[in-house]
Amino acid sequence: MTDAQQAALDETARKLFSGPIAFLKSAPQLKFLPDPVAPEVAFAGRSNVGKSSLLNRLANRTGLARTSNTPGRTQELNIFDVGAPLRFRLVDMPGYGFAKAPKDVVKKWRFLINDYLRGRAVLKRALVLIDSRHGVKDIDREIMTMLDVAAVNYHLVLTKADKIKASDLDEVTRATEAEARTRGAAHPEIIVTSSETGLGIDRLRRAVVDAATG
Ligand code: GTP
Ligand code: MG
Repeated sequence: MTDAQQAALDETARKLFSGPIAFLKSAPQLKFLPDPVAPEVAFAGRSNVGKSSLLNRLANRTGLARTSNTPGRTQELNIFDVGAPLRFRLVDMPGYGFAKAPKDVVKKWRFLINDYLRGRAVLKRALVLIDSRHGVKDIDREIMTMLDVAAVNYHLVLTKADKIKASDLDEVTRATEAEARTRGAAHPEIIVTSSETGLGIDRLRRAVVDAATG
């Protein structure tokens, strides 16, 4: 990308994320998804990793997506329209790997997430969020493999960077980069973020806009 293209992308991202962003609907099943009339970018990751918080921070609006200290807050696919007229959609998903949820609920969410990620034609990119304190877990690898097989592009995003020491953050970033290199559909660059401090948010906005409008 040239400097001029980069600047244009920055400007588009800034405009879109400071303009209209609105909750559209919740889809407990795929049949309730809106008509696939706009590109979509989805937030995936383990329960409590910070998906809904990151969506709010991207949109610069607290309380757009509901967040909680307790894992299992987001239980459906929540769709948000970006831009008026509509430019693209953000999709907040339930978390996977929530050990304390009832088995049938875990199964239901797993099918919902997998079916959406594998089958949604307008899905341009998934953001796979990884808690920087924990790094990539086997359950993340399962989702990554599923995305590799389905050839859905994804970006690995480290969350809660404010919670660990800089040296540990360097280490987990390097390890996550090494994971990404072994993956067919992963973007090689890892985006390190904090919804608390705003670290990496501009970078993530650019990646989202690039994926959705590029
Ligand atoms: P589920 O919907 O349950 O799957 O969770 P989620 O991935 O949407 O996580 P959510 O955004 O609800 O955040 C979970 C908890 O982590 C909340 O208490 C947030 O305030 C906290 N949190 C999220 N992001 C950050 C961050 O960058 N830094 C810190 N310190 N806390 C964060
Ligand atoms: Mg959530």
